[in-house]
Amino acid sequence: MGQHIGILTAGGDSPGLNAAIRGVGKAARSDYGMEVIGFRDGFRGLAERRTMRLDGNVFSGILTQGGTMLGTSRDKPHRMVIGGKVMDMTDAIVESYQAEHLDALVCLGGGGTQKNALRLMSKGLNVITLPKTIDNDVAMTDVTFGFDTALGIATDAIDRLHSTAHSHHRIIVVEIMGHRAGWLALGAGIAGGADVILLPEIPYNVESVAEAIRGRVRGGKTFSIVAVAEGAMSIEHAERFHAAEARKLNPEEKGEKKTAKAELAALKKQHSGHTLRLSEQLEELTGLESRITILGHLQRGGTPSAADRLLATRLGTACADYINEGRFGVMVASRGEGIEAVPLEEVAGKNKLIPTDHSWIVSARRVGTSFGD
Ligand code: F6P
Repeated sequence: MGQHIGILTAGGDSPGLNAAIRGVGKAARSDYGMEVIGFRDGFRGLAERRTMRLDGNVFSGILTQGGTMLGTSRDKPHRMVIGGKVMDMTDAIVESYQAEHLDALVCLGGGGTQKNALRLMSKGLNVITLPKTIDNDVAMTDVTFGFDTALGIATDAIDRLHSTAHSHHRIIVVEIMGHRAGWLALGAGIAGGADVILLPEIPYNVESVAEAIRGRVRGGKTFSIVAVAEGAMSIEHAERFHAAEARKLNPEEKGEKKTAKAELAALKKQHSGHTLRLSEQLEELTGLESRITILGHLQRGGTPSAADRLLATRLGTACADYINEGRFGVMVASRGEGIEAVPLEEVAGKNKLIPTDHSWIVSARRVGTSFGD
């Protein structure tokens, strides 16, 4: 009798999820005779035991489809809103796992999912994860699936913005997804030839950004493209934000954690709409007209790239092998030329940020890109 495995997709959707579900499911069924079921809408569907049979021809034709056939949600096992109340659904999840006679649970997700998977592992579930997110910020893997597709979309957008910016002698500020890490803005900014790239990892000075643009005007270039990551912050804002974060993590006094949390919430609120404010500031400081484009969820939608389908299939099929070997509590990671099982303890709670001396940043500076620092 083969093992029973469950699969869920959690967090924001990402191109390549269906390819990964197919990779796990096909290899698990054909190579190991495992029975596979899916849970709908992430951890919520697991808590509510909403399942989908993954048999017959269900994997046919999904390789090339964006989104996730299982649905997803940002629900956390220990903090789920049920009937208007925040509830800890961990016990319900353990019950579902047992009621479905599962031998393993595969969680496909980003940083938050790795943390949630580790929590479920501590409750005795055999959990194994795959790293997905367009942000590419999951620790201990070279790359996550979804990133390559989003990189292509954002680069194409920058290419298109160039001709209109050039024709109107304007600045175009293009906002690219990535709250914590700026991999997407950096990659697309370099590939699309953005003149300025602003990242969460390098707080910017608006005057330096304006000076980079004025320098281009002096050199005869009357347009500029500014690629700005969602989470990019001015130096002043970043200082306050990081100080509040440090106080939240290591409060010196009683009650400090609470005030730090409130301050962080206020700073996040203040930060929303920063791309528009930046554009207005640049108009004022340079005398050029400026427009904004927010790429938003376009970056997560549609057909996965060939590289993402390949990565997701490789990770998915390797995941079936690890389940067969009984290797749980690990994330199936892409490392160098191969695939490795990395303990969840080494992944959960960490973000893969861009080191400020990263070779991509060095190359960008060498072709004259400004980081506003
Ligand atoms: O985590 C991926 C991501 O696309 C981030 O880049 C972005 O900040 C966030 O999700 C948006 O989330 P939501 O779709 O829930 O608004």
